[in-house]
Amino acid sequence: MKVVLSYSGGLDTTVCIPLLKEKYGFDEVITVTVDIGQPREDVEVAEEKGNRYADKHYTIDAREEYVKALFQLIKANGDYEGYVLGTALARPIIAEKIVEVAKKENANAIAHGCTGKGNDQLRFENVFHQYGFKVIAPMRELNLTREWEIEYAKKHGIDVPVTKEKPYSIDENLWSRSVEGGKLEDPSYIPPEEIYEWTTSPEKAPEKPEIVEIGFEKGVPISINGEKMNGLELIEKLNEIAGKHGVGRTDMVEDRVLGFKARENYEHPAATVLITAHRDLEKLVLSRREIKFKAIVEQEWAELVYYGLTNDPLFDDLNAFIDSTQERVSGWVKVKLFKGNAMPVARYSPYSLYREDLVSFDKKGIDQRYAEGYSVFHGLQGRIYRTMINRES
Ligand code: ARG
Repeated sequence: MKVVLSYSGGLDTTVCIPLLKEKYGFDEVITVTVDIGQPREDVEVAEEKGNRYADKHYTIDAREEYVKALFQLIKANGDYEGYVLGTALARPIIAEKIVEVAKKENANAIAHGCTGKGNDQLRFENVFHQYGFKVIAPMRELNLTREWEIEYAKKHGIDVPVTKEKPYSIDENLWSRSVEGGKLEDPSYIPPEEIYEWTTSPEKAPEKPEIVEIGFEKGVPISINGEKMNGLELIEKLNEIAGKHGVGRTDMVEDRVLGFKARENYEHPAATVLITAHRDLEKLVLSRREIKFKAIVEQEWAELVYYGLTNDPLFDDLNAFIDSTQERVSGWVKVKLFKGNAMPVARYSPYSLYREDLVSFDKKGIDQRYAEGYSVFHGLQGRIYRTMINRES
């Protein structure tokens, strides 16, 4: 019996390797690590450990697919209750890669290290079940403590890093880094600076602001300060530039799918700059009715991603609408980065609906006197209502 394990290289999933043999009776454990832009070092550690402790290991590079999905997220201004959806969007992509290996290896089951309290189990399993795989979730089924895991690891000759283990659960990829657990579980507790790795604290950020120009083509970012680059480079570079200015920290309470409220801390510098810039460009280009309706579509879109329900046909329908709106979202936005803030300060598009000649205080454009007639009708029903009420009282 063969099982494919979604493998991060951390303690939980490493302990799963012997567990799947001892407690679940598998003869062969195959680990798969999917690269979605987490730190290089994490991928390397996972590969090294997978090769050492499992019967076979695969490292799969899914960064290109992830960037493609992120481009769609940018078009949709992806945002769930203020969360930029990095982990949520990545899970189905990881799951598809795991399935590919499981099929190729003729595996009897797929295992993952998610707990029974989070969203990730749902996002993963929706894909695994779609392909008819039996799913094994040792962390959910066995209620293991960290102490037990360390003991068990030692017994099985698994190295547990001696570095002072931070008491946090961290998930990291190209788009965002999340920190949960430990003392952070008390929402009234102010996080220590040590939880942050991508961002300088706003207090320590440079005293001089920096302006970055983001170029867009059909809703997708294509350049920084006029220099064209691919999505991966662009996001990595922006994480660095904006992170230095302390941009992209979110400390929030989030509604998980299962109904729990959870305290979450995120870092996402590039996401903040790109979504801020993209929204700003949309304001120049889209009609007021498009903007209003798109906000509704965006909310549905984000919820499907958060819930891991991107296989729902509604997701395709929403994307068709979103793509249609993005045809004209080309141009650039300049964003000022300063001590934790990312503020749009200038924008341009050849498809702008802005008409200086019409709106300007200094130019004639439309004869202002036409507004007089419009004003006679504006608010007509409200005036009738108020007059009536006043008469009655
Ligand atoms: N709350 C975020 C989400 O649901 C982040 C989850 C992080 N996952 C993890 N296994 N640490 O997408």
